Amino acid sequence: MAAGSLLEVIGRTPSVWLDRMIAARGLEGRILAKLDYLNPGFSKKDRAAKGIIEMAEASGDLRPGQTVVELTSGNMGTGLAIVCGIKGYPFVAVMSRGNSVERARMMEALGAEVVLVDQLPGSVPGQVSGGDLAQVDKVAMEIVAERGAYRADQFHHAGNARAHLETTGPEMWRDSDEELTAFVDFAGSGGTYGGTMTALKEFKRDIRGYVLEPIGAAALSGAEVTQPEHPMQGGGYAMAELDFLRNAPVDGYITVTGEQARATARAMAKEEGIFGGFSAGANVAAALDLLAGPEKGGVVGVVICDSGLKYLSTDLWA
Ligand SMILES: Cc1ncc(COP(=O)(O)O)c(C=O)c1O
Repeated sequence: MAAGSLLEVIGRTPSVWLDRMIAARGLEGRILAKLDYLNPGFSKKDRAAKGIIEMAEASGDLRPGQTVVELTSGNMGTGLAIVCGIKGYPFVAVMSRGNSVERARMMEALGAEVVLVDQLPGSVPGQVSGGDLAQVDKVAMEIVAERGAYRADQFHHAGNARAHLETTGPEMWRDSDEELTAFVDFAGSGGTYGGTMTALKEFKRDIRGYVLEPIGAAALSGAEVTQPEHPMQGGGYAMAELDFLRNAPVDGYITVTGEQARATARAMAKEEGIFGGFSAGANVAAALDLLAGPEKGGVVGVVICDSGLKYLSTDLWA
C-alpha cells in the first residue's frame, strides 16, 4: 500500500547479517546491521527529526507555521528539512563548514535555509570538533532569538531518544529473531544509543550495551581527551556528558580510530555491498573488535547510520 506521505516511510528499515565479513575474518558470532541509510533522508536521523517535531506539536511547544532551527552535521538537518517541509514549518539548518558540502546541497534542495559557520582557527575541514560545534550552537541560538523560532535541540529534546526507544530498538530486536546479545553505537547526541539500548534492555535484561567513541576523544568513558579531531562526522564530540546517556544502561566503552572506521566502511562496501558512511564503518569496526574479544560468539547489533554518498567529497572513498 502506498504511503500518504514520506513521513510514513521513515523507519522500518531492513536489517542484514554481516556473515560474509565475519567468515572472512574467522570470527565467531554474528553482526546484525540495521540499514538506516535507506531512510528517506539517507540517515537514521530522520527518525529523530520526526520524533522531535511530532512531540513538540503534541505538547503545543511548536506553533503552526513557526520556523524551526537546529544545529546539524547534515543528517539531522536533512531529516528536519523533510519533516518540516511536509508539515509546513520553515526550517533553518545551522552547520559547520567542516561538514561535507553534499549535506548543505541536499538540505537546500529539500527547502531548508542553510547557514554555514566557520570552523575554529586551525581546524581541519572534515574534522568537526566539540569546539566547532559550540560555535554552531551559538549561531543557532542567535537565529532562534532573532526569529522567535523553535529550536529542535537534538542534544536535549526527549523526542530524539524516544524515537529510537519506540522504533530502532524494537525493530532490531525483532529483526534479530530476539537473538541480540549486545549493541554498540557511536555517540553524537547519544539519542540512538540511549533510546535503542533502553528498549533492548526491556526485551532482554542481560543484553550488553557499548558506547563507541573515537580514540583520543573518549570523554564519555572518562578518558583524557588528547585528539579531538577525527573524520567520523556526526558524533565523537568529546563531551563529558550527554543527556541521553545519563539514565541509559551502559555496560562498557570502546574506541576505534578514524582509519579503522574508514577501512571498515570500505570493506563493508566491497564484502557486503553496504555503502555506509564513516560512523557506520566505526560501528562495524567496534562490533568486529567485540566479537574478537569480550563478545566472542555473540550477536552484536549496529546501525548503518548514513549513506556513503554523503562522503563523496571526502577521503572516505578516495
Ligand atoms: C552519520 C552519523 N553518525 C552518528 C551520529 C550520532 O547519532 P546520535 O546523535 O543518535 O548519537 C549522527 C548524528 O547526527 C550522524 O549523523
